[in-house]
Amino acid sequence: MKRIILDCDTGVDDALAILLAMRSPELRVEAITTVSGNTRADQAARNTLLTLEVLGQPNLPPVARGEMAPLERSLLTTLEVHGGDCLGGVTRMWQPDGSRRYPEPRLGLDPRDGVDLILDTVSRFPDEVTLIATGPLTNVARAIIRNPARMRRVKEILVMGGAFRAYGNITPVAEFNLYVDPHAAQLVVDFGLPLTFVPLDVTEQVCLMRGDIAGKAERGRIARFVADVTGEYIEFHTRHDDFEGCYLHDPITVALAVDPSLLQSVETYVQVETAGDVTLGQTVADLRPGRSPRVNARVCTGIDAARFLDLFLERVMA
Ligand code: BDR
Ligand code: CA
Repeated sequence: MKRIILDCDTGVDDALAILLAMRSPELRVEAITTVSGNTRADQAARNTLLTLEVLGQPNLPPVARGEMAPLERSLLTTLEVHGGDCLGGVTRMWQPDGSRRYPEPRLGLDPRDGVDLILDTVSRFPDEVTLIATGPLTNVARAIIRNPARMRRVKEILVMGGAFRAYGNITPVAEFNLYVDPHAAQLVVDFGLPLTFVPLDVTEQVCLMRGDIAGKAERGRIARFVADVTGEYIEFHTRHDDFEGCYLHDPITVALAVDPSLLQSVETYVQVETAGDVTLGQTVADLRPGRSPRVNARVCTGIDAARFLDLFLERVMA
């Protein structure tokens, strides 16, 4: 069993990542912290609580709101991709009796700020915690700045982010999470913990198609939520990417912790562009075997898409 902290900017695929993590017996989610990215960290925190409430189970992890703004840049959000509430519009869905299908969460936030919750969790479980970051790396960078000695005791960091041989999704060369806070990303890379990037190169190899979830919403509350939360997100991809489905960037990053054999990766030397006008947030690395004189990260280069999708659907749509 792996102890994990999930650090996310809860939009649609982060919510799916939370569900996958919570329903994976290989993982124990010790804390969830939210960061600003898809939306502001406070709305991401509310979305996280709402997602946890859908699980309808006791013993949920503490949730804390983290950083409201990137280290140096001003915040860029993606509400047009993830819906106005950044959760595919589920907060505006109504039941036949006029009540909200997903009411305001009754669960409360942890009083600590997200960075302190990360640090406290690492100190409870030194050398045991896998930190999974599915948003910009601002909270992780702030935790390193606030207490580098404590952060040395993180076992490893898995990052959804980057575009190496693939095009970017926010600029031609940059992936969203790294573009929002490239300075935080470079700081985290430089810190030197075991670090794996799960970039668009692999996450765009997997599509959850509308047909994969169609007709399964009646299976239960979680399956209903997955169908509801992905509706607008799938419409966005249908309009912009020409397929009737959506990407599962963040759940794939959780799946790497569940079963590392799902992805192939190479060791390399990653740098994040923090200065360029047209290349800001680009991740730069030579992925050819033996070409990097130094190594500071692993980069995922391949995925068993069918096996991942089976795992995902079995765990969140059952
Ligand atoms: C990443 O950006 C966000 O919109 C998604 O949640 C994912 O973490 C993909 O580039
Ligand atoms: Ca995300």
